[in-house]
Amino acid sequence: MDFRELASARALYSRRAVGYDGENARRGEAARVLFAEIAAEIVRVMPVAGDTIDLGAGTGRFAEILGQRSAMLTSVDCSKDMLRVLMRRIQSAPVFASRVVCADVENMPFSDEGFDYAVCISVLQYLDLRAFAYECARILAVGSRITIGVVVVHQDDDSRWRDAEFQSDCEGRYYSRFRTEQDIDNAFHEQGLELISKIECPYRRNFSDLVSDKVRFTAREDLLAACEKYRSASDEVRQIYEIDDLGFTQHYRVFTFERTSNPS
Ligand SMILES: C[S@@+](CC[C@H](N)C(=O)[O-])C[C@H]1O[C@@H](n2cnc3c(N)ncnc32)[C@H](O)[C@@H]1O
Repeated sequence: MDFRELASARALYSRRAVGYDGENARRGEAARVLFAEIAAEIVRVMPVAGDTIDLGAGTGRFAEILGQRSAMLTSVDCSKDMLRVLMRRIQSAPVFASRVVCADVENMPFSDEGFDYAVCISVLQYLDLRAFAYECARILAVGSRITIGVVVVHQDDDSRWRDAEFQSDCEGRYYSRFRTEQDIDNAFHEQGLELISKIECPYRRNFSDLVSDKVRFTAREDLLAACEKYRSASDEVRQIYEIDDLGFTQHYRVFTFERTSNPS
């Protein structure tokens, strides 16, 4: 990841840190269903009592689920502000062994093959896919697994969007990239990580939820203008989001890969 992108992710999540959990809570039923689906998949595929790492852990929404099933949970994020919220959450959670590390997940201060299970939920869009896949293969032991949750774009998308820089007016400027399922599968396969499961979780966002979400940290007028832009979006944007008058649906996927061999 180049410095500009890391800095933009850090800045975005220092702005969002305090409001992040409330934002998710206010997103209503669709967000609750998505969280429950991801959590159920984690519980289904994760090995019990290993060393687990949460990559881009944020405020630690998955810390309790992961920590209770691990010998040790390592939570990594590039934003100190998000990690501050995570540490408060862990302190009030049932006791489990854990450590918190502020680092870039594309370049982590951990030795090779040290982890038995990893999760990376809603982070991949900020990362260089190949660099991240390489780093995952490096830190994961042979036979271990990684579960990744992310919005994907359609297979037939215009290639300009697949790796495009995305700047959102309503959340400030930041860079976010959308990939196809195939892009993600290829990048992990190249590093000796084989896809063992994939679940589809359509994630419906209503414009009205978005407006109440974002009103804490952006001008309401900007957000209304952004929603209007979605409504009258170009074909390119429509390839990313299925849009109607009330909102749009993101194509969320939860992939699990198993590390079978040494990285190339
Ligand atoms: C949408 S939040 C997801 C947080 C958490 N996984 C969850 O599902 O609630 C994305 C997180 O990724 C972190 N992040 C983005 N780029 C990163 C990087 N290169 N290294 C580490 N963390 C990163 C952000 O700071 C933020 O906390």
